[in-house]
Amino acid sequence: MKITTATLKEKKEKGEKITMLTAYGYPTARILDEADIDVVLVGDSLGMVVLGYETTIPVTLEDMLHHTKAVRRGVQHAMLVSDMPFMTYETDKSKAIENSGRLMKEGGAEGIKVEGGAEIAEIVSALVKANIPVMGHLGLTPQAIHRIGGYKVQGKTDESRQKIIADAKLLEDAGIFALVLECVPESLAEEITAKISVPTIGIGAGRKCDGQVLVTNDMLGMNAPGFQVPKFVKKYADLTPEIKKAVEKFRDEVKQGEYPDKKHTYE
Ligand code: KIV
Repeated sequence: MKITTATLKEKKEKGEKITMLTAYGYPTARILDEADIDVVLVGDSLGMVVLGYETTIPVTLEDMLHHTKAVRRGVQHAMLVSDMPFMTYETDKSKAIENSGRLMKEGGAEGIKVEGGAEIAEIVSALVKANIPVMGHLGLTPQAIHRIGGYKVQGKTDESRQKIIADAKLLEDAGIFALVLECVPESLAEEITAKISVPTIGIGAGRKCDGQVLVTNDMLGMNAPGFQVPKFVKKYADLTPEIKKAVEKFRDEVKQGEYPDKKHTYE
């Protein structure tokens, strides 16, 4: 079944959990789609996970387009959402529409995700009026990492909690179809989930959201050596050591003349 914004809303109404994972390329996109993940997100986590940057800030629209096109070719059933990178939407409505439009027209995304609340609510509303489905993102918003001053849990003080709740309402009014809540206390995610009619999708936001998202490489344990995953990540596999082992075995077998053997050679 093809997943759309309507399916996601229905899932919230029926109390069925929504699943979302990230993909940056064709093979992973195929695997997620075949595993019936509801939403495949081309996250701007691309910057750290694949491109080797320290933050998501340097990611460009062209980077997102390139990877969205690859993921598009692997996704049939899931809804495909693509992140709008830093400074491609925050300052100007027509620029936001033009750039989001490119992710949809050229990249094949079926929705886009933007970070922030009150500051971008009018832009979100303009995007929705232009028929661009928008997913919101509140709590720890990685594009604001230098303002926030580090990857920390958000919404812990009463003031910050009330701001996130108010932002969620504003984004709902602006027409978002879903809302990512990142690194917030479970009780705050629960309150927002009850207060807004659109599905909430949590990452480090506890058990009460309408759905859950993780960075696929984190949950597969397939990160650059030494990378520390956050506390909320559950590793469903631990692939980095497996990959390293396989690569070392290849190295040794080639050096010792054991590979290729007869079985892997054409007559
Ligand atoms: O960029 C990303 O992968 C994200 C998810 C972690 C929600 O925004």
